Amino acid sequence: MAIKFGRPSERGRPSSPRVALPHANEAKVEESADRLDLAVRPRRGRRAEWARRMVREHVLTTNDLIWPLFVVDGAKVRAPVASMPGVERLSVDEVVRAAEHAAKLTIPCLALFPYTDPARRDETGSEALNADNLVCRAIRAIKKEVPDIGVLCDVALDPYTSHGHDGLMRDGVILNDETVAVLVRQALVQAEAGCDIIAPSDMMDGRVGAIRRALDGAGFSSVLIMAYAAKYASAFYGPFRDAVGSNATLIGDKRTYQMDPANADEALREVKLDIEEGADMIMVKPGMPYLDILHCVKATFRVPTFAYQVSGEYAMIMAAAGNGWLEGDKAMTESLIAFKRAGADGVLTYFAPMIAERLKKGGA
Ligand code: PBG
Repeated sequence: MAIKFGRPSERGRPSSPRVALPHANEAKVEESADRLDLAVRPRRGRRAEWARRMVREHVLTTNDLIWPLFVVDGAKVRAPVASMPGVERLSVDEVVRAAEHAAKLTIPCLALFPYTDPARRDETGSEALNADNLVCRAIRAIKKEVPDIGVLCDVALDPYTSHGHDGLMRDGVILNDETVAVLVRQALVQAEAGCDIIAPSDMMDGRVGAIRRALDGAGFSSVLIMAYAAKYASAFYGPFRDAVGSNATLIGDKRTYQMDPANADEALREVKLDIEEGADMIMVKPGMPYLDILHCVKATFRVPTFAYQVSGEYAMIMAAAGNGWLEGDKAMTESLIAFKRAGADGVLTYFAPMIAERLKKGGA
């Protein structure tokens, strides 16, 4: 049977598909032998657009958006990411253009991710500590040209390590405490460059507390921390790893530090720890496959809670839309309101500029 959501021929009919009521009489329940004696008819509130708007529980606004951008060396570079149609790696000058565009669309915050030249990647991810690395140059350029937009940066070593892991690796083991010491330095380098929100995405134990203490000690007590608190070991990060070039290098997987997709209670323990260690905001990642976790986290802790609609989620919608299997705009809009409904205060999404344009036109 064909699914006909929102078809004009279905709109406004109180109950019977057999009687075509003229518009003016729509409010009158049809007289018929089959008429049910119902006190409650939830469809009354869905009959017209004005009524649907009145009873709508959640709204998405541009304030809810964080736009992730990939930064690459060079000038005037916009290099498409094959597995993320519509997403490009941008050189710093182009990132600044994107920031201006975002500001015009009233998107409050950008998230920056570097594609590091492979020649600059090494065992320890030392480029992460270079105060003149791509991300730091991008932060400074944005802050100079578009000072009123927020800038968020990942703290993790994967864009910089030759093995593609988020931490230091010895004999195939990801070291926790030694990694945290490096992440603290990476966070300080980014804060020094002007980053507003430090977002540890590495899932090492104790990193939020260590970063908070270091930031405070260095005079960055107003720099925010958004902890990737419940971050799962997910196949949905594949296109992102193409974009930052770590798919090619990644040895093994990240299951010794990212969470098992089978676990929910553990997410609450992770979030609790990060809040206790000083996280201002927390994140659940990926997004759509983990809406249950998002809802539970928000209901339990009532802190600013964000969802990351990750690269694979974006790629799925874009690929299906590109094939004509989904209506892309509608699938995008529906996927984003789902995050709000589940309790998110905001969403990191590659759709940010597209949905913002749509919201601006009053279309979402
Ligand atoms: C790096 C990082 C990843 C993402 C954000 N930060 C990938 C990973 O952990 O392997 C994924 C984002 C996306 O898929 O859009 N630590």
